[in-house]
Amino acid sequence: MLRDAEPQPVRLADYRPPDWLVDTVELDIRLDPTATRITARLAMRPNPGGREGSPIVLDGDELTLKSIALDGERLAPEAYAATPSSLTILAPLPRPLVLEIETEVNPSANTKLMGLYRSSGTYCTQCEAEGFRRITYFPDRPDVLAVYTVRIEAAREEAPVLLANGNPVETGSVAGTDRHYAIWHDPWPKPCYLFAMVGGRLERITEPFVTASGRAVELGIYVEPGKLDRASYAMDALKRSMRWDEEAFGCEYDLDVFNIVAVADFNMGAMENKGLNVFNDKYVLASPETATDGDYANIEGIIAHEYFHNWTGNRITCRDWFQLCLKEGLTVFRDQEFSADERSRAVKRIADVRLLKSHQFPEDAGPLAHPVRPDTYREINNFYTATVYEKGAEVVRMLKTLLGPEEFRSGMDLYFERHDGEAATIEDFLACFADASGTDLAHFARWYAQAGTPTVSVSGEWNAAAQTYRLDISQHTAPTPGQPDKVPMVIPLRVGLVGPDGRDMAIGAPDGGNGPEGVLVLTEARQSFTFHGVSERPVPSLNRGFSAPVTLKSGLSSDELLFLARHDADPFNRFDAAQTLALAHLVQATEAVRGGRTPAPPAALIGALGSVLSDPALDPAFIAQALAVPSESDIAREIGSDVDPDAVLKARTGLRKALGRALAPELAGAYERFATPGPYSPDAASAGRRALKNTCLDLLAISREADGIARTAALYRAADNMTDRFTALSILAHSAPEERDAALADFLARFRDDPLVVDKWLALQAQIGEAGTLDRVRALTTHPAFSMGNPNRVRALIGTFAAANQTQFHRADGAGHGFVVDAVLALDGRNPQVAARLLAAFKSWRALEPVRRASAEAALKRVAATSGLSPDVADIATRSLG
Ligand code: TRP
Ligand code: ZN
Repeated sequence: MLRDAEPQPVRLADYRPPDWLVDTVELDIRLDPTATRITARLAMRPNPGGREGSPIVLDGDELTLKSIALDGERLAPEAYAATPSSLTILAPLPRPLVLEIETEVNPSANTKLMGLYRSSGTYCTQCEAEGFRRITYFPDRPDVLAVYTVRIEAAREEAPVLLANGNPVETGSVAGTDRHYAIWHDPWPKPCYLFAMVGGRLERITEPFVTASGRAVELGIYVEPGKLDRASYAMDALKRSMRWDEEAFGCEYDLDVFNIVAVADFNMGAMENKGLNVFNDKYVLASPETATDGDYANIEGIIAHEYFHNWTGNRITCRDWFQLCLKEGLTVFRDQEFSADERSRAVKRIADVRLLKSHQFPEDAGPLAHPVRPDTYREINNFYTATVYEKGAEVVRMLKTLLGPEEFRSGMDLYFERHDGEAATIEDFLACFADASGTDLAHFARWYAQAGTPTVSVSGEWNAAAQTYRLDISQHTAPTPGQPDKVPMVIPLRVGLVGPDGRDMAIGAPDGGNGPEGVLVLTEARQSFTFHGVSERPVPSLNRGFSAPVTLKSGLSSDELLFLARHDADPFNRFDAAQTLALAHLVQATEAVRGGRTPAPPAALIGALGSVLSDPALDPAFIAQALAVPSESDIAREIGSDVDPDAVLKARTGLRKALGRALAPELAGAYERFATPGPYSPDAASAGRRALKNTCLDLLAISREADGIARTAALYRAADNMTDRFTALSILAHSAPEERDAALADFLARFRDDPLVVDKWLALQAQIGEAGTLDRVRALTTHPAFSMGNPNRVRALIGTFAAANQTQFHRADGAGHGFVVDAVLALDGRNPQVAARLLAAFKSWRALEPVRRASAEAALKRVAATSGLSPDVADIATRSLG
């Protein structure tokens, strides 16, 4: 028997259209720190596609109903049933009708940061996915689209700035009081998850923007007082995003104003509310002294992402939450393409694939695996995942690879034309590409339904007499939870054949080939492709540009991979060949460490990396990526099972030291050559030079060659920007324990009043792979700069410990697991979303060696056995154990 409180899973197959629609919403919000009153006037009518004669049932969450009227008449108590989580109208219903609902909420007590809450005194809202129901009773589902008019009223002193979606209509004073109001109207119908309002003491920068067709738009970025000088990069990124979307997708902005507000307390990165994006301030605020190159790149990408949602998400939204990837995967694809165009395409692709492999591949290989479009959920907040976002973007990218750029664009154009103003599905989206290109995408659609990362195994054979080259390719996907049997997928593999001279051979269409030029399209469990006129033995370069999100077993020898690492015309595969070699070495080295042996350094790989380092034709940012040794979690994933994180770290450190020792003169030379002269600039070329020089420094320091430590200490002191200063601090903290505490203390003294910089300081300490780290992290939880109430602080300290410190989180004595579980349980009552994300760090627990695996299982069972868990944490615990 299920307990009453246990919510039933929601299933895609059970989707039914809404019975009632809402045409217009008029909100009157009287802000008060502890008793905010919301009056909602909803103009409703039965949905012609719904069930005839059904009652009105509205969603709520922790709501207090103050009054309710139907068509202007107060409803008698027996005419409705209200609980904190629902409101049912029992009276006989006229059609159409107007409901007027008054609720009261306490924004100051809202620690979940969903609905209306206060962040450093600023009133703000977060409604995706199901937060609007914490403000007023409403059909809180994305297929109910309405036109909103919002009046916000507040004490002028407390909230001089009052913002909502859409265009400003009117402002004024409330006669005889210290209060004022603002009225906003959003002409575009939207689901309630895109509603937002903000009230507070904020400062702003503004800039004019004129769209391609001549619409004048006022852009505004609002920040806490005193931080205006840190908003200009975000503004610059916004303008570039708006122009790019016009050029790349023909998407123009559609309101008179576009506002962004940065708040300090936020559950995720940012939110695309129509005309009023709300951001975690970490992804808005930047100055050379406080933000790293990585922060600048994140700001650019996330500003673009939220802006791009204006068309992919807002003008066309999702029918239901199962379709989340319809807006998220597509919008991630769009922001990736924007950053690729603004920066270096090859380096951006490498960075995106690194992220996919380090976050999404482990998710797909563990107990939390789910399809890009899940078909059931208990808590939708737990499905804002790397699979929905990053793999969702890869699926869109594959579509473009299969159709080619022109037909892809025609499909997008048709999507915008056909579904503007609607709540759409993945089927609707794919039908646009099928119709625009005349291609059958029924088989391709399995990417949305089948979880797990396919493994593609290849063997090649050159026939000298026939001058042919044959590739035999098979694919296999391992079972995932709920999906024991897998079918073959449509896998577009971009390929080249590299000749002995290092150049691509001219390859015609192979026998068995059925894709665009240079792309082999796999559709079966095993297939062969034969190229003709191949007069010399080639080395195949497979899955170029990472054209499909698969694990590739290329069958290439070390010599062939070395050859590609030196010559491949595809920069991604050049990078990937070196990474594959490094990974193979690291797997063997880990085994050697466990067997008590000392692994021999991989001389040939080190030689290849040395020539990459000294190749003047290469982009420094690319070289930095090539020199970055695969991460501990990459190595663990490659090992697959029975993982000992201590051995992994030792093997990885060993390779980095070997690189530093073998290449010391070249590294020292590059460190000096790639200094960035002049004042700091965040542009991609300067950032690339810094990335390379600092990667060199890191290898010199860990190997203690060429005065690596002294150079790092000097860089720390002399740095005029956060990229250099924080890199130097990190290197000292990881590689120079004798310098660590003094450097950390100095850094804190410089930045203690800057929470976003303090986060870097917290995260760094949580990452150190030493036995003392757990005590250090535990002590930091009581540091005045730390707070369990702020998600950024929690993620920086505890999130980093769990997700980026494999050896200490997975301590053999179980203390790391115990600490994280304690934190999850302590946080759950306050902010379940953040608690659940923290718990998801256990996602690869089954791959650990038996002692650590048992400890992880016990820790997860302790969570599962706790009473009063939030649905968020209960769901992650149950699925992780399942
Ligand atoms: N839709 C947002 C984005 O990806 C993310 C998001 C979903 C979110 N739910 C949230 C952000 C809750 C903050 C809080 O752009
Ligand atoms: Zn998004």
